[in-house]
Amino acid sequence: MSQDIARIEQVMCAAPVIPVLIVEDPKKAVPMAEALVRGGLPAIEITLRTAHALEAINAVNEHVEGAIVGAGTVLNHKLYDAAVSAGARFIVSPGATETLLDAADDHAVPLLPGAATASEVMRLLERGYSRLKFFPAEQAGGAAYLKSLSSPLAGAKFCPTGGVSLDRAPTYLGLPNVLCVGGSWIADAKAIAEEDWSGIEERARAAAALTA
Ligand code: 3PG
Repeated sequence: MSQDIARIEQVMCAAPVIPVLIVEDPKKAVPMAEALVRGGLPAIEITLRTAHALEAINAVNEHVEGAIVGAGTVLNHKLYDAAVSAGARFIVSPGATETLLDAADDHAVPLLPGAATASEVMRLLERGYSRLKFFPAEQAGGAAYLKSLSSPLAGAKFCPTGGVSLDRAPTYLGLPNVLCVGGSWIADAKAIAEEDWSGIEERARAAAALTA
């Protein structure tokens, strides 16, 4: 089955930035997501890297109006199933495997799979995936590298993530093959731990004002 482009673009085009979040304490997920939505970033990715990430996704999905909550770091079929059951509205993975793509075939909840090389992009295009995460963006070659994929692989559009900051985001967002960027700078672990909701909202507002 091919990627549902309309559904994944609803997520990728909701705002110029998708905040990537590591949530240790699920009680902080709702105020954190509310701050992000208030700041203008409705699509948020909670990574499955903590014990309570699924609980956090569930809480945001149930209680934060206007949020489009997704699960990140989804590495296999089991995590895909668990994320969908928790209420994730989209799924993100750092790469792609055949079994992960098979898992996506079992669900209506769309997948944004990761790729970092021309061959990885080509394999995903063959499987019907053209909306991809470019990961790890800065470390893999940055905006210049991604730009060089835009002519030969014109059908692929990306969300670069990994090392992206407010300063670096505009260069990516100016590329013809970029729909949005992802990053943890808006709400990093420290800001969440300190419950710095106003700081998160302020950084969200600055990110939302970037032009794609
Ligand atoms: C990640 O996997 O943690 C994301 O790509 C975010 O990367 P960043 O922390 O460099 O923004």
